[in-house]
Amino acid sequence: MTSIEHALRDDNEATRRALYEGAILRLPPTPASSEAVSAALSLLEDELGPEPRAVQAALSNDEFFRKIGRIRKRLHLEDRFHDLVLRVVAALGFEPGEVAFDPLRLRVVAHRGHENPLAAPVYYPHRDTWYAHPQSLIAWWIPLHDLPEEETFVFFPDCFQRAVPNDSHVFDYDAWVREGFGLKIGWQDLEAGKKARYPGATGPLDPGRAVGFSCRAGENLLFSGAHFHETRRHAAGRTRFSLDFRLVHLEDERSGRGAPNVDNRSRGSALADYVRSARRSC
Ligand SMILES: [Fe+2]
Repeated sequence: MTSIEHALRDDNEATRRALYEGAILRLPPTPASSEAVSAALSLLEDELGPEPRAVQAALSNDEFFRKIGRIRKRLHLEDRFHDLVLRVVAALGFEPGEVAFDPLRLRVVAHRGHENPLAAPVYYPHRDTWYAHPQSLIAWWIPLHDLPEEETFVFFPDCFQRAVPNDSHVFDYDAWVREGFGLKIGWQDLEAGKKARYPGATGPLDPGRAVGFSCRAGENLLFSGAHFHETRRHAAGRTRFSLDFRLVHLEDERSGRGAPNVDNRSRGSALADYVRSARRSC
């Protein structure tokens, strides 16, 4: 994989296989992903007023975090947002009855946010799988705004098949959840960035090529959760908001299909807490 692609494969199985092999797909908005953007922006405007991207400087850290926390909780837990995730995946050919997902998360990357020690984990280069997710994990990212390359993140494709020195062994999913579900989603504890153990790269590292991208609001960015990537620090004078969720095709997981595991030593499994579609559990 050398660049970001812009089309699905001929069928969903081929798309999943390509993702497990390292393909990164940036696909146009669908009605469902556009609806997710509108819904999230509406929650942000309810809490932060008509200019949610500009308001952070006017609020204390504490107040901003509390407001964002209320939105995060709703996006993650409410049935209507679970239904919306299923429509987002169905719009791009995934069968809702065949998948499980870790629900929507709202990501916030502040102007000069990297200077805030409490936000340090946001910028750790990482693989999502280091957080006890399966190797079959598909990460699905949706920006809420049109963004230049400087405000998104970068992939290090040369690390997809190459081990990176890391401390993923510190991450124990069961202990993480025991500390409080709110910590996992980020709606309760402003100090979590200082106290919790987040896995990251350790030691000297030459990650090779860095592949960045610009994007438009509502696009669907799909990539393997095993990709090594890093959120970019920015000083754009405004906050960047995005949504993401994580998807597992259950039969692929059962059959051992997924990205290669070159260095993930996290413990436990987040999959037990993923949401299955109602149709499946009936
Ligand atoms: Fe990530």
